[in-house]
Amino acid sequence: MNYFNYKNNKLFCENVAVEKLAKKHGTPLYIYSKNSFIEQYKNLDSALAGLDKMICFATKSNSNLVVIKTFAELNSGFDIVTGGELFKIVKAGGDTNKVVFSGVGKTIEEIKYAIEQNILFFNIESEVELKRINDIAGEMNKKTRFCVRVNPNVDPKTHKYITTGKSENKFGLDFEAAKSLYNHAKNYKNVEAVGVQMHIGSQITTTEPFVAAIKKLLKLVEKLRAQGIDVKYVDIGGGLGIVYKNETPPTAEQFAIAVVPELKKFNAKIIFEPGRFLVGNGGILVAEVQYVKKTPTKEFVILNAGMNDLLRPSLYDAYHDIIPVNASDKLKKVDVVGPICESSDFFGRERKLPEEIKSGDFIALKSCGAYGFVMASNYNTRPRGAEIIIDGNSAIVARKRETLEQLIKNEIW
Ligand code: LLP
Repeated sequence: MNYFNYKNNKLFCENVAVEKLAKKHGTPLYIYSKNSFIEQYKNLDSALAGLDKMICFATKSNSNLVVIKTFAELNSGFDIVTGGELFKIVKAGGDTNKVVFSGVGKTIEEIKYAIEQNILFFNIESEVELKRINDIAGEMNKKTRFCVRVNPNVDPKTHKYITTGKSENKFGLDFEAAKSLYNHAKNYKNVEAVGVQMHIGSQITTTEPFVAAIKKLLKLVEKLRAQGIDVKYVDIGGGLGIVYKNETPPTAEQFAIAVVPELKKFNAKIIFEPGRFLVGNGGILVAEVQYVKKTPTKEFVILNAGMNDLLRPSLYDAYHDIIPVNASDKLKKVDVVGPICESSDFFGRERKLPEEIKSGDFIALKSCGAYGFVMASNYNTRPRGAEIIIDGNSAIVARKRETLEQLIKNEIW
């Protein structure tokens, strides 16, 4: 179901008019549909029902506490990449025993904190990292668990900046290195190998790369088991894509039909780490038009949101649909840009917006629920916007707009 719809030409999120929210809370404003998050989670959960599995929401995609709480209430696990994300999961009441910790650069403090919180396992990316975890667990008189993140060298056919499972990427270990690490790890007393993990990339819009990588992984798991390694968990990462423009990513059912028969062969608990699939289409960014500026070659709609609020177009040339909050039949082509002093501060070129668009009108950038607010910054000394979560008729302020005083609170002068 689509949770962002026009009613009498006015854009709604669930049952709440977006214009009302924009006027009440100001812009730039992130608006999330709680029920779309829940629906996506339930869709995936039921599509994968035939498997012994756990879904671990990739917290990096949207770490607002209300969002984390929403997934915690669905009994979701969490994939984290920092102690900061773990801290938020603790605060939001998530179950830390269902946390898996990924990332190439875990610090001593982060590892200690994760062991204290008794997370399910670490996804380790190098031998030195495993040694560090073993040493820290030893000092704490604890034993912790790990999976090795392997790099299956499969092309996920996505943007090069979010491709992670090819041999030239910094992530994971090749199969040979992984095998010898598992054997070497038998000497470590404070870490126990419990499985394998991979994550081949993000915004993957076909099932083939997943299936190819899973098939490769199965061969590795068979070899590891033959060497006496107890593979209880197989974590296949995240990466399931969504529609931004005209992509045709698999639905949860199509994904399940492709991967479940392969995953059953592992005879293990399967972990999924979806981020974008769960939250991407469930959020919009609302901005106010500041100026409409005509040059001899172009017409620009200049917003009060910039690349500091939504970085994806600038960083990945990503497409986000741009729609008016008040719909109109008569449209014209414009370039939609932010106020920041860089030419990369754009949201869309040659987009269709109402012919009569003017200062003070609101527009919405779609599919901003994942990697939206979490990638926002204070560039140009711009306070970050607010976040609102809608549940039917009710609107909860999930984050207040940042103030100028908050911007300088840690500066000493
Ligand atoms: N697991 C691991 C280990 C990851 O590195 C990621 C994402 C995920 C799971 C979740 O992937 P997803 O299901 O959301 O595709 N900022 C970029 C995306 C970076 C993704 C990084 N890793 C963007 O805006 O497109």
